[in-house]
Amino acid sequence: MDKQAHMSIESPVSSTLHFHDYHPVLDDFKAEVLSGLSRASRQLSPKFFYDRKGSELFDAITELPEYYPTRTEIGILQEHGEAIADLLGQNCLLLELGSGSSKKIRVLLDAIKPAVYMPVDISREHLLGSAEALAADYPALEVHAVCADYTTDFDLPCCPDHLPRVVFFPGSSIGNFEPSRALELLRRMAHHLEEGGRMLIGVDLKKDVELLHAAYNDSQQLTAAFNRNMLHRINWELDADFDVQAFSHHAFYNEPEGRVEMHLVSNKAQAVTVAGQLFEFAAGETIHTENSYKYSVEEFQSLAEAAGFVPEKVWTDDDKLFSVHCIRLLKRGQCLQ
Ligand code: AVI
Repeated sequence: MDKQAHMSIESPVSSTLHFHDYHPVLDDFKAEVLSGLSRASRQLSPKFFYDRKGSELFDAITELPEYYPTRTEIGILQEHGEAIADLLGQNCLLLELGSGSSKKIRVLLDAIKPAVYMPVDISREHLLGSAEALAADYPALEVHAVCADYTTDFDLPCCPDHLPRVVFFPGSSIGNFEPSRALELLRRMAHHLEEGGRMLIGVDLKKDVELLHAAYNDSQQLTAAFNRNMLHRINWELDADFDVQAFSHHAFYNEPEGRVEMHLVSNKAQAVTVAGQLFEFAAGETIHTENSYKYSVEEFQSLAEAAGFVPEKVWTDDDKLFSVHCIRLLKRGQCLQ
C-alpha cells in the first residue's frame, strides 16, 4: 500500500491558516513517459498535463464558451446552495480533494459555512497560494492546507476532530479515471469519512455527441494547445526533440466506452528521441493522452453503491449537462491493497 508518511510537518502560516506537508512522492515522469511511449498502443498519463503552462491552459479552457462543465457545475452549486447546506449541515470540516477552482469553493463555502476548510493538493505552490487568498477573504474560517497526493492513502492531520466531515470532489475529475480506478478512488476517499459521512461530487453527464465534440475541440484551439503542451513539457524536462507541430490534436467520443478520448496523432513518419531513447512513429500513429468518462446519473450511482455509498440526492442543470451528487457512506468497501 502506497501510504504516505503519517507525520506531516505543520506550520502555522497565520492564526487561521495551517499548512501540513506530507511531502508527496512525485511520480517518476521519465520512467512513466518512456514506458508509455514504448507500448504497442502508446499512451501518456493525463496527470502530466498539469505543469505551470498546462495548468494555465486548463484554467483558460474552463472559461471557454464550448467547455460547459465548469460553469454548469458552479451554476448548480449556486442554484441549490440552500438545499446542499440543508443536507450537509453547517460547521462541518470540509475536505476538498484536488485543486479546485477558487470560484467553485467560494460558492460552496458561502452556502454551507464550514468551521474548517481542508484543501488537499499535490502542488505545494498552487495549494499555498489559493489557501492564503482564501484565508484572507474568510477571516473566521480555519483553513488547514494539506500537501498530499489524494490518489494515495494518507491520514488527515488531527486538527478539530469532533466535526462531521464532508468530502468535496468537484470538476468531474473522477471521469479521468478508468471505472475500476474510479471505484478504487471512491473507496479510498471513504477512508476520510465516518460511516454516515457525506461526499459531494461533480460528475459530467452523457449527452449529445456534438456538444461533447465541441467541448474538446474548441474553436480557439486551447484544448489542442493543452494536449500538445505535454510534448513541450517532455522536450523541456526530458531533453526530447518532439516536433510538436508535427502532432495533431484528436478528440472524439468513444460511444461504446462512454468516454471522450484525447490523442496526439503523428502527421508523418518521424523519429523522436526522449532521454536518449529513440521512438519511431508511423504517419497516423497516435499517443493516447486522456480519457474523460461520462456517466448517466444511474451509472454513477451504481459506482458509488459499489464503493459503499448510498446515493442521497442529485442535482443537475436544466439541460442535463452536469450532475452534482450527494452520497452518504454506508459502509467502507473492501480493504485496498
Ligand atoms: C480535469 N478534467 C475533468 C478535464 C476533462 O474534461 O476531462 C480535463 C480536460 N481535458 C480536456 N479539456 C479538459
